[in-house]
Amino acid sequence: MSSDRPSPRLELTVGDITTEQVDAIVNAANETLLGGGGVDGAIHRAAGPDLLKHCRKLGGCPTGQAKVTLGFRLPARWVIHTVGPIWHGGSQQEPALLASCYRESLARADEVGARSVAFPAISTGVYGYPIAPATQVAVDAVRSTPTNVELVRFVCFNDEALSAYTTALAIDLT
Ligand code: AR6
Repeated sequence: MSSDRPSPRLELTVGDITTEQVDAIVNAANETLLGGGGVDGAIHRAAGPDLLKHCRKLGGCPTGQAKVTLGFRLPARWVIHTVGPIWHGGSQQEPALLASCYRESLARADEVGARSVAFPAISTGVYGYPIAPATQVAVDAVRSTPTNVELVRFVCFNDEALSAYTTALAIDLT
């Protein structure tokens, strides 16, 4: 795809996405957008009850799509809620749906003017997507999406995620 917009700078960081000082953080939500466990639970706890109040007005979100709210008590101004695919072995459009989550999240970021965005490893927790292919999809999707976002941070919650992103980004740490 040709674009005169440069690709965002990609960074890896280890820790809790709710503390990220970026314009927008991405939530790995479910189709109800009414909260849950994992990173979704952490984001709702940190953002406070106004987040759920606003999510109720969104009417849910289909898998592979994304919707945006304010971040309320979070350092991030925006939360982009996206719904990753549940892993069923890989033959049910999981890679395409996961790539769509990243592309649609960047599209929402562009719509609100966010220039820095932090992503969790969507679908790799409760939804069971294996971390290595999921991080490769994440990196490839972000690199191939035209966007005005200047910085994308992949937030690794554990060493396994860090190692997978390191491989996906072809970074040599030795
Ligand atoms: N910061 C960054 N990453 C985190 C955090 C955090 N605070 N907490 C967990 N992770 P998951 P999914 C990582 O299960 O697989 C929810 O109930 C985690 O280690 O949060 O897309 C939703 O409501 C993993 O690598 O999301 C849905 O029902 C990644 O975030 C369902 O889970 C995603 O794990 C979505 O499942």
